[in-house]
Amino acid sequence: MKKIIEIKDLSYEYLSEENKKTIALKNINLNIDNGEFVAILGHNGSGKSTLAKLLNAQIFPTSGSIKIFDFDTKEEKNLWDIRQKCAMVFQNPDNQLVATIIEEDVAFGPENLGIDPKEIRKRVDETLEIVKMKPYKRHSPHMLSGGQKQRVVIAGVLAMNPEILIFDEATAMLDPIGRDDIIKTILKLNKEKKKTILYITHYMEEAVLADRVIVLNNGEIAFDDSPKKVFCNVEKMKSLGLSVPQVTELCYMLKKDGMDIPLDILTIDEMINFLEEEIK
Ligand SMILES: Nc1ncnc2c1ncn2[C@@H]1O[C@H](COP(=O)(O)OP(=O)(O)O)[C@@H](O)[C@H]1O
Ligand SMILES: [Mg+2]
Repeated sequence: MKKIIEIKDLSYEYLSEENKKTIALKNINLNIDNGEFVAILGHNGSGKSTLAKLLNAQIFPTSGSIKIFDFDTKEEKNLWDIRQKCAMVFQNPDNQLVATIIEEDVAFGPENLGIDPKEIRKRVDETLEIVKMKPYKRHSPHMLSGGQKQRVVIAGVLAMNPEILIFDEATAMLDPIGRDDIIKTILKLNKEKKKTILYITHYMEEAVLADRVIVLNNGEIAFDDSPKKVFCNVEKMKSLGLSVPQVTELCYMLKKDGMDIPLDILTIDEMINFLEEEIK
């Protein structure tokens, strides 16, 4: 697989007006391949949003480098390419919806890229179809639920045809149904449209769906591995202020009580399979 994000010795410091330094990221080395679905976890203040903003070239490395498709984010001439190739979806959809009609909102990004109106119309229909919001295209976004609004935001971002999508706690404000719709949409984008996904979340049940889990702690990488290899470290995850999937937690408690049970069971289906084998 082709490497599309290359992060080398990346550090980032915020400098306040009183010249107070906050080191948000320390010496991060990370490569992400084309088509990967990567979950990024970490307690509040661990540096997740800073990493996302650096990837999107909203802020620039204090030291080290980030390359997106060989475009160094530090070079101003690359800004346009980077923002187009690497799009972001934030927590609150209201902050990302700009127009009063849904189809106009989705058209906004590609219009700014100077894309031909005929092509824009095609993209608007296609992307609204992907997020299952086509029937609403002439509606106003303010009538929608949070989950529907977030899907319109995703359509707008997709209409710019990015290769990489970064979601920064994009489901944090949604109810469980809204969350479920978003995660299904994202899985579809990854599996069918081959988009590379960086998915920042606090929901371990969402992280389980990723190919790879990166855990940040105080600006450093604490884990970078498959979900199974990360979540079986139940005590370490807790010490980092994080949880593990509920089923894994249950296995952990059973094991503590003396049951011979592995800790890399992450989903209810895996638990059922394990118990069925045990009963046989
Ligand atoms: N604009 C800012 N100015 C100063 N410090 C900041 C700013 N934004 C974030 N920080 C600090 O940088 C660290 C990482 O923050 P952030 O990347 O937002 O973490 P996360 O998204 O994981 O919660 C925290 O200590 C936070 O207080
Ligand atoms: Mg954040």
